[in-house]
Amino acid sequence: MADKTSADAERGINTRLAHSGNNPSDFHGFINPPVVHASTVLFPNARTMETRAQKYTYGTRGTPTTDALCEAINELEGSAGTILVPSGLAAVTVPFLAFLSSGDHALIVDSVYFPTRHFCDTMLTRLGITIEYYDPMIGAGIEGLIRPNTKLVHTEAPGSNTFEMQDIRAVAAAAHRHGCIVTMDNTWATPVYFRPLEHGVDISIHAATKYPSGHSDVLLGTVSANAAHWPALSEAMVTLGVCVSPDDSYQILRGLRTMGIRLERHQESALEIARWLEGREEVARVLHPALPSFPGHELWKRDFGGASGVFSFVLKADAEKSKAKAHAFLDALSLFGLGYSWGGFESLAVHANLSDRKIAKAPSEGPVIRLQIGLEDVPDLRRDIEAGLAAANAV
Ligand SMILES: Cc1ncc(COP(=O)(O)O)c(C=O)c1O
Repeated sequence: MADKTSADAERGINTRLAHSGNNPSDFHGFINPPVVHASTVLFPNARTMETRAQKYTYGTRGTPTTDALCEAINELEGSAGTILVPSGLAAVTVPFLAFLSSGDHALIVDSVYFPTRHFCDTMLTRLGITIEYYDPMIGAGIEGLIRPNTKLVHTEAPGSNTFEMQDIRAVAAAAHRHGCIVTMDNTWATPVYFRPLEHGVDISIHAATKYPSGHSDVLLGTVSANAAHWPALSEAMVTLGVCVSPDDSYQILRGLRTMGIRLERHQESALEIARWLEGREEVARVLHPALPSFPGHELWKRDFGGASGVFSFVLKADAEKSKAKAHAFLDALSLFGLGYSWGGFESLAVHANLSDRKIAKAPSEGPVIRLQIGLEDVPDLRRDIEAGLAAANAV
């Protein structure tokens, strides 16, 4: 086959998703790579064994299956290297462990995915790392929070549950002026709609559990680094002994093939429902970066190529009825499942718990309901939400 790399950069995203990661002629023409189950790899002689002078040396360090997925992710992210880890949460914790040491200070966005906060407040704190949360809207103002020992600035945009946008470029530029590493949890947009490394981020984090999997049945995380940070990231993976199963890697590569068209549908349906909710009088606000009414909309428009299918709305409620109304809404749903996570084919709803916030506080008008819009037909989803709103009204 002709050299793929030169032509790839000009190809459309769905073409790249369909063809990246493996070369069928490497595997007798089979379109998909083999699922290699491996711990031990044999060496042909003692000299090769001593010097490890062959491509594969042990199952934890990669197989043709994990390589195929890593190559596909590198192509999507524009990264120098990618490691695979067992969950999206591990895709945050492993690079934090790779780059932070006792005595360091880390700046973490306050609208961060809650389990990331938990890791920072427990294990990282125990290891002697000082954690400080910052306002997601801070932009270049982050410079004022950087201390001589600040080592890492973690971003997530949009923020979990409340979808605050961040000026990633401004944050990264300020952080780099002081030699800090910039990490970003880019799970919401996926590299189809936002490529963090092109905006100054050093380490791009993706819970592949969500859109790459697409079917709510695989847990996996990817961490992709630019050239400067790839050696330390790859070393951390080997040192920690973190690796993933070949079956899960295969499923994620399989999911990437259709991720572009699934995202288009998630985007379109979610926006239709978000716009409709904006017109409902039971709703105080819709938190969706692609809506012009949303405070971070201009940043989204400037930097992102699209929106995925997760957003929230604030249900109008007096404080004393807030929880009862949220529960009435959720309990009246029959198509939307009540479940955490997102990115799968089915719609989900959850009452967001924002009690962990220090700066980006919960909206005051009522409970925040997060919706993951799946691949179902919009009129059916709308009817389901209408039943939920009617039940909330009755409280
Ligand atoms: C923004 C974000 N990052 C990371 C994760 C963690 O992914 P996983 O469930 O695979 O641990 C999630 C899960 O909901 C998430 O929403």
